[in-house]
Amino acid sequence: MLTKNVLNLQILRSARVLFYFSPGIRWRWRRLPAQRQSGRSASSDVSGVPPEDIRNFSIIAHVDHGKSTLADRLLEGAGAMARDSGRHQVLDSLQVERERGITVKAQAASLAYVRDGRTYLLNLMDTPGHVDFANEVSRSLAACQGVVLLVDANEGVQAQTVANFHLAAGKQLVVIPVLNKVDLKHADPDRVSEQLTKLFGFRKSDIIKISAKFGTGVDDVIRTIIERVPPPPADRSAPFRALLFDSWYDRYRGTVSLVYVTDGSVKMGDRIVSLHSGKNYEVRGLGLLRPHEEPTDQLLAGQVGYVTCNMRSTKEAHIGDTLHLKDCAVTPLPGFRPARPMVYAGVYPTDQSQHLSLRAAIDKLVLNDSAVSVANESSPALGQGWRLGFLGLLHLEVFTQRLDQEFDAQAIVTAPSVPYKATIFGAKNIKKYGGSEIVISNPAHFPDLSIVSEFLEPMVLGTIITPDKYLGSVTTLCMEKRGEKKSSTYIDNERVMVQFILPLNEVVVDFHDILKSVSSGYASFDYEDYGYVPSKLVKLTILLNGVVVDELATIVHISRAYNTARQMCLKLKDTIPRQMIQISIQAVVQGKIVARETLQPYRKDVTAKLYGGDVTRRMKLLKQQAEGKKKMKKVANIELPHKTFIEVLKR
Ligand code: GTP
Repeated sequence: MLTKNVLNLQILRSARVLFYFSPGIRWRWRRLPAQRQSGRSASSDVSGVPPEDIRNFSIIAHVDHGKSTLADRLLEGAGAMARDSGRHQVLDSLQVERERGITVKAQAASLAYVRDGRTYLLNLMDTPGHVDFANEVSRSLAACQGVVLLVDANEGVQAQTVANFHLAAGKQLVVIPVLNKVDLKHADPDRVSEQLTKLFGFRKSDIIKISAKFGTGVDDVIRTIIERVPPPPADRSAPFRALLFDSWYDRYRGTVSLVYVTDGSVKMGDRIVSLHSGKNYEVRGLGLLRPHEEPTDQLLAGQVGYVTCNMRSTKEAHIGDTLHLKDCAVTPLPGFRPARPMVYAGVYPTDQSQHLSLRAAIDKLVLNDSAVSVANESSPALGQGWRLGFLGLLHLEVFTQRLDQEFDAQAIVTAPSVPYKATIFGAKNIKKYGGSEIVISNPAHFPDLSIVSEFLEPMVLGTIITPDKYLGSVTTLCMEKRGEKKSSTYIDNERVMVQFILPLNEVVVDFHDILKSVSSGYASFDYEDYGYVPSKLVKLTILLNGVVVDELATIVHISRAYNTARQMCLKLKDTIPRQMIQISIQAVVQGKIVARETLQPYRKDVTAKLYGGDVTRRMKLLKQQAEGKKKMKKVANIELPHKTFIEVLKR
């Protein structure tokens, strides 16, 4: 039976326009290739391509080094997109990706490429560059045998280049070094080749120089992928086995899972089993992403494709799961570490009448973003809401922007907090909390000091690459942020790579922005998990006119308590608009008031004296006031702008 989706594909193909249903929930359109290019075809049948002619690879790079642009050129090279289509960053299909110029969601495309009369199937995974989405990179690499490590020939090796290289090398993948943007006036391919040789041991002759923007050198990249990336080790006669490495939700077909078939084959109507849950499902749809969905009757070992079955929720599509045929046991494929939230924030409707619609919007978005964790939460001031866990602050911002853009659902986001831990003692307390070690993802749940033997704080290993003239200010910044230096290496005559162990809490909110400003934009930063260490933590509570505002509470290191308290009081004084009453802002730590500010009331009503001819101006002012009020929240009888909660923690 044809699904509505497939029907649309078929009807509109004749009009050379394709409507497709993207993981971003909306219907989108894209022009199909105008013409087949000789020897390369988007629609050439790739189902018969044997495993030895398949190459599964990913492009990894620091943010903005040109991954999506190179992906465009590869799509054109394989005839999946016309050279003159005028479309850019085709695999970045979400509105937020296009507006911010970043990749948020990894995407896949199966490309047919003809070389010396042989058709190769190139499975490309485009991955996000920002550190928050490193987990997407790691997932995509599980389906690859090789990577293209793309480096901007002007900017040189950056922090994420190093992190991504180690990720790929750690998985024993073939790494193809490529220098991009050689067309730029200030590009210095020799210097950057030197860095690649020194840091990663590449041979200079192996480094390919390209301009993804103008397409120069891209054929070389394709040739090298075919020559150097090994074909997937696929046994098509073995029982079916596949790695589930991504999923999204389609309102008509339910969960769509992206799988890498390692053994055997699966066809329509087969019953497949999730090794993780033991549940079995009937296969209702199979296909390749080229990059639009192209249905097939079966998926074969070596291929990367999508499967739809009667999975109702993306929660059932466990990332890293092994799928196999019913009654045909297999050994599990090596999975990978699930995404772990690094930042938590409370998300509340702007007014409680919006609760149901915001809940529906969050549920839908989470269906396509399984990295977000959701738990119910309530607050005396903000009502019923949720505590959401994100991979980082950018992830949080992107999520709330998508709520607004894709669902028209505005939300109040409370100050972000990292997950601390506490070791508690006393049999009664351990029973109450369900264990001796508890995770504190919400400062409001900070346990009483009398039952805690130790607090633990999450740490990261931060890698910074900077021109050496900024090394002093970068080091000062890291020290200020309670960092401990681990190593320092010169990667060429003027650039140095330093590693610091830093508390996650200190890097999560504004570290990146300050680093950019102290290094005139030249330093880059990446971090990885470094476990938990014991730490002296206290809860900082804010009182507005004597009333505790739980949503503004935060957990800080004791050495930071006084400064943070002062900064928060000043920031609140700046952010809260003057009101009819005087507002006292107090910060309390361990029962003592450590900082205080006073916000004076309005002198007079600015609209009161506008008569007669000023009617329009008065209406305009009243309208502006009403608009402003809509974006306010009443806490302790005080109107707080929505942004207050997230703004106060920024420096
Ligand atoms: P993220 O998705 O955010 O990780 O970025 P990305 O690595 O996918 O980079 P993207 O392809 O979005 O390119 C970033 C910018 O560099 C865009 O403005 C591109 O037009 C530009 N760019 C990419 N390749 C080249 C090139 O070869 N030459 C020049 N001059 N500009 C390029």
